[in-house]
Amino acid sequence: MHNRLSIYIVFFFICFFLSCSYKGSDKIRIGFSQCTSNADWRKSMNYSMKVQASVYSNVDLSIYDGQDDPQNQIADVEEMIKSEMDIIIISPLEPELIVDVVDKAMASGIPVILLDRKINSNNFTAYLGADNIEVGRNAGNYIVSSPNENINIIEVKGGDSSTPVSERSLGFHQIINSNPRAHLLKSLEGVNEGLPTELFGKVLDSLGGETIDYAYFFNDEMAIDAWKVAKEKGIENDIKFIGVDGLNGPDGGIKMVQDGKLDATLFYPTGGAEVIKLALQILNGETVPKNTLLTTTVIDKFNADIMQDQLNRVNQQQTEIENQVITISEKEELYASQNVLLKASLAFLIIILSLTIYAIYSVIAIRKKNRQLEITNAKITIQRNQIEKIANQVKVSNEAKLNFFTGLSHEFKTPITLILSSIESIGDLIKDKGSKLGYEVELIYNNSNRLLRLINQLLDFRKSEEQKFQLKASKTNIYTFSQKIFNDFKREAKKRNIDFALESQNKELNVFIDRNLMDKVYFNLLSNAFKFTPDNGKIRIKIIENVNNVIITFKDSGIGIPEKEIVNVFKPFFKGSNNRKNSSGIGLHLSKDFIELHKGKIEVGSLKGAEFAISLQKGSDHLSDKEIIEEQDIIGSDIIDFSIDYADSASYLIQDSDIDVEKYSVLIIEDNRDLSIFLKNKLISEYNIYLSDGSDAVDKAFDNIPDIVICDINLPDKDGFEICKILKKDLRTSHIPTIILTAMGDKESYLKGLESGADLYLTKPFSYSILIQSVKSLLYNRENLRYYYTNNIHKIEELDSFGNLEQVFMSKINNIIEENIDQSDFSVEELSQLLNISRVQLYRKVKALLGMSVSEYINSIRLNKAKIFLKESSQNISEIAYSVGFSSPGYFSTSFKNKYGVTPHNYRNNK
Ligand code: FRU
Repeated sequence: MHNRLSIYIVFFFICFFLSCSYKGSDKIRIGFSQCTSNADWRKSMNYSMKVQASVYSNVDLSIYDGQDDPQNQIADVEEMIKSEMDIIIISPLEPELIVDVVDKAMASGIPVILLDRKINSNNFTAYLGADNIEVGRNAGNYIVSSPNENINIIEVKGGDSSTPVSERSLGFHQIINSNPRAHLLKSLEGVNEGLPTELFGKVLDSLGGETIDYAYFFNDEMAIDAWKVAKEKGIENDIKFIGVDGLNGPDGGIKMVQDGKLDATLFYPTGGAEVIKLALQILNGETVPKNTLLTTTVIDKFNADIMQDQLNRVNQQQTEIENQVITISEKEELYASQNVLLKASLAFLIIILSLTIYAIYSVIAIRKKNRQLEITNAKITIQRNQIEKIANQVKVSNEAKLNFFTGLSHEFKTPITLILSSIESIGDLIKDKGSKLGYEVELIYNNSNRLLRLINQLLDFRKSEEQKFQLKASKTNIYTFSQKIFNDFKREAKKRNIDFALESQNKELNVFIDRNLMDKVYFNLLSNAFKFTPDNGKIRIKIIENVNNVIITFKDSGIGIPEKEIVNVFKPFFKGSNNRKNSSGIGLHLSKDFIELHKGKIEVGSLKGAEFAISLQKGSDHLSDKEIIEEQDIIGSDIIDFSIDYADSASYLIQDSDIDVEKYSVLIIEDNRDLSIFLKNKLISEYNIYLSDGSDAVDKAFDNIPDIVICDINLPDKDGFEICKILKKDLRTSHIPTIILTAMGDKESYLKGLESGADLYLTKPFSYSILIQSVKSLLYNRENLRYYYTNNIHKIEELDSFGNLEQVFMSKINNIIEENIDQSDFSVEELSQLLNISRVQLYRKVKALLGMSVSEYINSIRLNKAKIFLKESSQNISEIAYSVGFSSPGYFSTSFKNKYGVTPHNYRNNK
């Protein structure tokens, strides 16, 4: 966050800095196409242009050299057009070829100035240069000013087709042709390189006796070369050499005049400085003349010095200007760099200032945060201390509670052991008699045993948590050991038709085990297997001998353990999500602890049921001396043998023929077989009993429509609350009183029970007499309601002592009967069809609610209606009999008398 802020600050100042240093480009771009830069005169032209341009800081001059080739020059101008020069200056090499590209420049809006030479077109912006006709005429006039009688002249023209060449010749000829003293002996064409020296030499040789007075050359360079040729021939003083250009400088025409080599030179100004001024005027939008002619003059020995002096001054000024320009540009550069430095310093100063402010702000913010943190820390410390204190208190109270429970559990052991031994003696006593009481004795015995095991488990858990177990392993025949425990579960297996077997290849196999602890492991694994395996299932114990170890597996075909939960199976208090039975969740945890004490392993798998595998090492090398004890071989089972199987449930199954129609019927929904058989035994003498382990509870209720339902809560399929709710919501069973019988004594479950519509909520352990009394009073209440209802048959709509559903049901029945009252063949079948329930269900429901059969009820409504008619209508008795659905008046009278003790006739008369 802080980093990002600094980056923003720096970025801001960089932008600020760049925006300050940026200046838009407003330069004037002047392009100059020079035909050639070989000649000194051309160099002088370029130089003066550059000096003049440098005076203006906003002028950018580019000079292109055509190198004496017209095509090069055309290409140069093309490029200038392309690069969008503001103005183009051309000193054309040749007057015709250049015309097109000049037209093009003009067409694209770029002004064109012709310098020194013209072209064969009028399409240009301006021309600047000396008047070459004037130059020619001046040369002619200079020559004819000679006092000679006859003046012999040679003309040597420039070697190209440029306008200066033709115009200089034209002006010259105009003068000498009009003067009879002047005789042009020869007119030569120059060449590109200047003077055709050889040809000139030949001309000099071919003159014979004739003298040449004047030789007129189109520039000083050719004139000097010619002088040299004449000098070689020793005639240089016989001829007067006239040149053009009049350049100042060591090799220039003026110097040659001063040296007496040239007689005169025609000053021909380059126009370099003037053309730049003209260009700027044009660009400024000023009106300029199409042709600007520069003055030309003759320089001879009389004015050469003055001219030189003048030109030197001009040169000096140019140099000064140049120097000043250089100084100015140096100063400008210095200024620019100092300016940049200043701005950079300013920017950095601002950055540093901002960062300083930011740093101060950060320090303040951090201090503030620190203070807050200190306060939070202090709070946390206080809270932590409080939590520690509470945790300590909890620990102490937890310890106290655990000690209390442990103590209590120990206390339980003695009475239970006493009960067990007493029961054993009672069992022995009644064994011979085969009394029915034997079953209950066994029940007491088995359940006391179970209680003892649970208490032991509780104590073991505490002991194992405190790591107080000491392994006492002794050499044990593992098959005999397993068989002994196997036998304890055999009867349960038989009772529930579970395929239960013990398999071992080696029945002589000995393993070092702590028999006491291993007994608990076996008992736990088998109890679980039996708990979760349904009737007719399968349970297997297998002993497998390997080279180094022995594996004992316990496999069942029960509900198994959900895959996701399998890793938690051995954790304390684990209860599978599919397990709806009561479970403490410590048995498997203890088993794992015990097996690990043996340095063994216990693993679990679940694929159609559950499989536990214990692996124990062979021999005793893995155990310390302290862990090994000497113990006798296993002796026979010490568990009481109730050889008569009292709990054989088959003998108590209710057959259809057993049903006594006079008795009320009770549906017991309970998955603990012992408890359900116990209850059945208790109730069977007074009631018809139906049993359900929960899986088919609702179906059994609908099929049998019992008079009362006793229902457990923790059941394998739907729980008791759900079952109760279903029964209470269904028209067929809604009237049946329901007792919930459960181990769950908490307030929440109690409320849930009431919400589900249960009439009574009894918690385990329950007193049998209270249960019996509750059943009786619920049935009695029903009876009362029925009595009341039967006597208020026609007021059914106003009755609200029945449940809502019952009221709806009765008014429905009443309406249907009312509508069909005159139909003598209206049957119970029809009524049940219209109510959408079976005939039997209708019968049982009506019987339960009204204590009479359906046909009796229909009959009573018919007679009641007849009673009303007898009193209120004027119909005769047989008409009334038919209208309330009696097929014969005689039968009506008999029925009426039977019900009300008086004949219809007498009833009407006594009204
Ligand atoms: C140089 C030059 C000059 C002459 C001018 C005519 O190239 O020949 O000597 O005066 O060009 O354009």
